[in-house]
Amino acid sequence: MTNQANEPGCGEIPDLAGKHLVLGLTGGIACYKSAELCRALIKAGATVQVVMTAAAEQFITPVTMQALSGRPVYTSQWDSREANNMAHINLSRQADAILIAPCSADFIAKLLHGSASDLLGLMCLARPIDKVPLLVAPAMNREMYAHPATQRNLRQLEADGAKVLGVGTGFQACGETGDGRMLEPWQLMEDIIAFFVPKALAGQKVLVTAGPTYEAIDPVRGITNLSSGKMGFAIARAAREAGAEVTLIAGPASLPTPRGVARIDVISAQNMLDAVMLRAQSATVFIATAAVADWRPAVPSTQKIKKDGSRQPPQLQFTENADILATVARLATGHAGKPFCVGFAAESHDLHENAQAKRLRKNVPLLVGNIGPDTFGQDHNALLLVDAQGCTEVPRASKLLLARRLVREIATRMSALGLAQQNVQDISLGNS
Ligand code: CTP
Repeated sequence: MTNQANEPGCGEIPDLAGKHLVLGLTGGIACYKSAELCRALIKAGATVQVVMTAAAEQFITPVTMQALSGRPVYTSQWDSREANNMAHINLSRQADAILIAPCSADFIAKLLHGSASDLLGLMCLARPIDKVPLLVAPAMNREMYAHPATQRNLRQLEADGAKVLGVGTGFQACGETGDGRMLEPWQLMEDIIAFFVPKALAGQKVLVTAGPTYEAIDPVRGITNLSSGKMGFAIARAAREAGAEVTLIAGPASLPTPRGVARIDVISAQNMLDAVMLRAQSATVFIATAAVADWRPAVPSTQKIKKDGSRQPPQLQFTENADILATVARLATGHAGKPFCVGFAAESHDLHENAQAKRLRKNVPLLVGNIGPDTFGQDHNALLLVDAQGCTEVPRASKLLLARRLVREIATRMSALGLAQQNVQDISLGNS
C-alpha cells in the first residue's frame, strides 16, 4: 500500500506506536477503504477502537472491522458492555485522536451543529477538545462536496478546531468524476502520521532536489545514474511532517509524491538548476540530495545517432554542468537571504575525508555523506553528518527514519543560528 521506503526497518519502532485512535465510520461507499486503513493503522503500531454509525453498517459489517481492529466495535450509545453505560465518555477519554473516515456530508453537518443523536456524534461532542483532536476524511459525490453548504460546513469545522484531511479526485462510485473521493488509505496514513510529528520546521520553506538527472545524447539515448530518489523523497516527506512548506524538484524517478509536497519534475541538470534558482531565494532551507550529472553531451544530436558501418564509436564532446548546490550556497546573504544549505556526498571510498573536503568545497554548513553503491535504489542507508564541529555517524536505518533524524538535526542547527523557532527535542514518533 505504501512506498517501501516508508516501512519501518527491522527493530525500528513503528510510526504510531503507543497511539490509541478511535476510528469512526459513517455512511459512504468509501467504508470499504476503511478496512484497509484500519489494518494500516494497526500495522503502524496504533491500537484502534472502531465506532460505526447505523449508516456505516449499511456498507460494511462490524464483524469485518472487529476482526481487523481486534476489538469489539461500538455502534450505539446504549451499549451495555460499558459498566457505567457511558461509552461516549469512556472511549473518547482513552483516545489520542478521533479519526472519522469516511465522514459523510450528513455527518459533517451533524458535527457542525454539535448533534449528539448517535454514539459517534455524542463522542465527538463529549471529547476534551484540547486533548483529543478530531481528524475528518470527507467522502461524497462531487456535487455534494462542491455544494456551498458542504464547503461552508468544512470551513466552520476547521474553525471549530477539527483537522479536515482533504479529498481525492477521480472516478467516483456513482459513475461521475471529480473531487470528493475519500483519500486512499496510504494518503490518510501519511497525514495521520504527520499530524503527530512535532512541528520543528514550522514556518520554513524547504526546497529539496532528488533523484538522478538525464543528459540527452540523442532523442533516444542519454546519460543518467542509479539514484532512485528515495532519500530525497523521504526528506521531503519528513520536512512536511515537521511543518515546513516543501517543494521537491525531482529528476526522473518513479516514486509517489509525498502528501502535501509540491513536486516539480525535471529531466536534465540544466532543468534542475533553472527550477532551483527560480525558488532558491525564497527558500529558507535547501537540501540537495539529487545525483546530478557532472557532465552533459555538449551538443545533443537532434536525430538518433546511427551506426555508420565504420565500427568506430561516435566521438562525444562534453560540457560541465553547473554545480547547483554550490550555486545556491554562493547566493548573497542579505536581501532575500540565503537558505540554510545541506548537501549530500555519494562516495565509493574514504567517506570521512571526501565528505569533509566536499563540505568545505561547496561551502555548506552541513553535508551528509553516504556510500553510493550501498544505498542507490535501496530502502535503507547509513549516514555520516559532517559539519564544522566534526563527523557524526548515523547507523543504518530506513530512509524515512534517517530523513526524520536529518530534519531534526537541521532544525536544531537552525535554531542555534536563530533561524528556526525552537529546538525541538521531543520527536514522539518512532526511534529518534
Ligand atoms: N550537486 C549539485 N550539482 C551538481 C553536482 C552535485 O547540486 N552539478 C550536489 C549534489 O546534489 C550533492 C552534492 O552536490 O548534494 C555532492 O554531489 P556529489 O555527486 O557527491 O559530488 P560532486 O560535486 O559531483 O563531486 P564528485 O563527483 O567529484 O564526488
